[in-house]
Amino acid sequence: MPKEKPELSDAMRKKMSGKSPEKNPIKGTKFTIAISSAKGGVGKSTFATNLALALKRINCKVGLLDADIYGPSIPKMFSISDKPKSDGQKLIPITKYDIQCMSIGFLTDQQTPMIWRGPMVTSAIKTFTQKVDWKDLDFIIVDMPPGTGDTQLTFSQEIKMDGAIIVSTPQEVALLDVKRGIKMFDKLGVKILGLVDNMSYFIGDDGKKYEIFGKDGVKKTAEEFNKEFLGEIPINPEVGKSGDEGKPIVEANPNHEISKIYLELANKIKSSYFEN
Ligand SMILES: Nc1ncnc2c1ncn2[C@@H]1O[C@H](COP(=O)(O)OP(=O)(O)O)[C@@H](O)[C@H]1O
Ligand SMILES: [Mg+2]
Repeated sequence: MPKEKPELSDAMRKKMSGKSPEKNPIKGTKFTIAISSAKGGVGKSTFATNLALALKRINCKVGLLDADIYGPSIPKMFSISDKPKSDGQKLIPITKYDIQCMSIGFLTDQQTPMIWRGPMVTSAIKTFTQKVDWKDLDFIIVDMPPGTGDTQLTFSQEIKMDGAIIVSTPQEVALLDVKRGIKMFDKLGVKILGLVDNMSYFIGDDGKKYEIFGKDGVKKTAEEFNKEFLGEIPINPEVGKSGDEGKPIVEANPNHEISKIYLELANKIKSSYFEN
């Protein structure tokens, strides 16, 4: 019998224990929300960019911080090729679609793989959270890398996080990792706003609903851990296409049914932080 993968590795447990350093808020924003998933390729960056744009549409001032040091997506998804300037003290974020953006991908050659060790990742994150001139924001949406690694730890232990949203697809392998992610945030005292089921199903040309990755997996996981289930986002080719073209669907087509789902979610999130 293969041994079951432990839910949190010993190394991770060690790093998480015993420390309760002071958490610094990111200056220039009221709230910071992490978009996390334990697995790659489940649509985290797609979700982060579209949620940011949806929040903007309901009159929030929004920043987007790409914390995926090894695989930044924001330069491509927002079609940004400029390099951020510095005022001598701080880096000035690049504003696109009225969103203030920062990504390691703005600073490095996109084709060169990042071969950084943990401490370097930690220091890059400190730069992005403390040395960027974020201005008058309501929310910073942080696009996390997959997994439960150094980036998640640095954010959760050293930076004041106001909430985390966990994105997953409904199949078992992804859900196993989600459970690990939930435990990590719970242990580190980061409030989980809820779970989102992305790529839940596909509606074919025949009008039928195809539940490609199974049914209700994310919802059941939310119930199991007593977390809110924030809803389902179906697979839609327009979503992938618009992201690839550098203008996510909420910006490219705000009346699209998927955009409406994002706007509803954005309203929900806004109202949990701001009174109307
Ligand atoms: N709801 C969706 N419908 C169709 N394609 C999607 C959807 N969500 C994400 N994708 C596509 O899935 C791929 C992985 O998404 P991405 O956001 O890069 O994932 P992650 O950041 O978790 O690695 C991308 O090609 C993206 O366009
Ligand atoms: Mg990503």
